[in-house]
Amino acid sequence: MKYITLANNEKVSQEILGLMRIQWKGVDENGNKTYLGLPVEDVEALIFKALDLGINFIDTADIYGHGLSEELIGKVFERNPGLREKLFVQTKCGVVSTSEGRRNSTEGSYIIECVNRSLERLKTDHIDSLLLHMPDALFDPQDVAEAFDQLYNEGKVRYFGVSNWTSSNIALLMKYSKQPITFDQEQLSIVHSFMVDGEMSVNQDWENSIERDTQKLAFCRLNGIQLQAYSTVVAKINERTFIDNPNYEKMNQIMDRLCEKYNTNKNAIALAWIQRLPENVMTVIGTTKVSRLEESTQACDVRLTAQEWYDLYYSTGKKML
Ligand SMILES: NC(=O)c1ccc[n+]([C@@H]2O[C@H](COP(=O)([O-])OP(=O)(O)OC[C@H]3O[C@@H](n4cnc5c(N)ncnc54)[C@H](OP(=O)(O)O)[C@@H]3O)[C@@H](O)[C@H]2O)c1
Repeated sequence: MKYITLANNEKVSQEILGLMRIQWKGVDENGNKTYLGLPVEDVEALIFKALDLGINFIDTADIYGHGLSEELIGKVFERNPGLREKLFVQTKCGVVSTSEGRRNSTEGSYIIECVNRSLERLKTDHIDSLLLHMPDALFDPQDVAEAFDQLYNEGKVRYFGVSNWTSSNIALLMKYSKQPITFDQEQLSIVHSFMVDGEMSVNQDWENSIERDTQKLAFCRLNGIQLQAYSTVVAKINERTFIDNPNYEKMNQIMDRLCEKYNTNKNAIALAWIQRLPENVMTVIGTTKVSRLEESTQACDVRLTAQEWYDLYYSTGKKML
């Protein structure tokens, strides 16, 4: 496992265990599809396997299963005294879902309420990293900065970050916030690579040249913000993986060749592609299976050559400038 050094010389693993899918949807006794969650023993097994593999960072959010993901993690902590202290726990807030409807929010009082509820569910007295989950068109940077200060001063949150935000809004928040913005979590994979595409298709009339925040990679690098990639093997949101998917035949053929060369598996190659970026991007692994977690962490042993990286990149049909 490779480690990233944060402020205070604290070391966190480059690979993160993502615990969104433990919310697991099933059919309840009334025949309705609803979040039932995986058995707590399965979640426990995933977390212990992660630790065995050198992963010391877990990711969740208050909206995963309407709090169920955090609750399950809290149960695992309760069953295993001392486990919490071995892990860097990240959660997120910012999606309001009430009987009135659903919206995004970064209101300071709302952030504080969310953290207090997350602490209860997670059965802990502090969150290591809090991300603002979604952009908010009504965002007031001063209000957020004050909420961050309060949470930091009360010892409830140690590091702060964002997810799915534009570079400009991060810069705006940084201008007001005394607390550093340490993390930015974004969707990134060989297929969903808009952050890279923007840099590789600058100033063209191509689809990939459309501005989708093409400055994100350089912005984070310039400002010392640690990027985290999510949905690293998902083809498109709500679609299944591109691994062994006939829609991505050329990429899978290249992956087969690389698996043989590096004596590894395709999940590891997909993560190694992200980790090869100069930003040392952290990769969130969202599997519910211990065996897949084990396979994915082999990415740390693979360093793709520049040619292999570009071969995979262009295998999805992107044009070359
Ligand atoms: N900030 C955000 O807005 C945001 C959004 C989404 C997710 N996230 C975070 O990122 C984490 C990962 O996201 P994710 O779960 O969407 O991404 P992911 O890790 O790319 O996808 C995992 C999914 O792909 C399946 N999978 C993986 N390898 C496979 C293979 N070789 N063959 C068939 N299926 C395969 C997994 O199933 P198995 O369980 O069978 O392995 C799982 O359903 C989440 O847990 C969450 O923590 C954040």
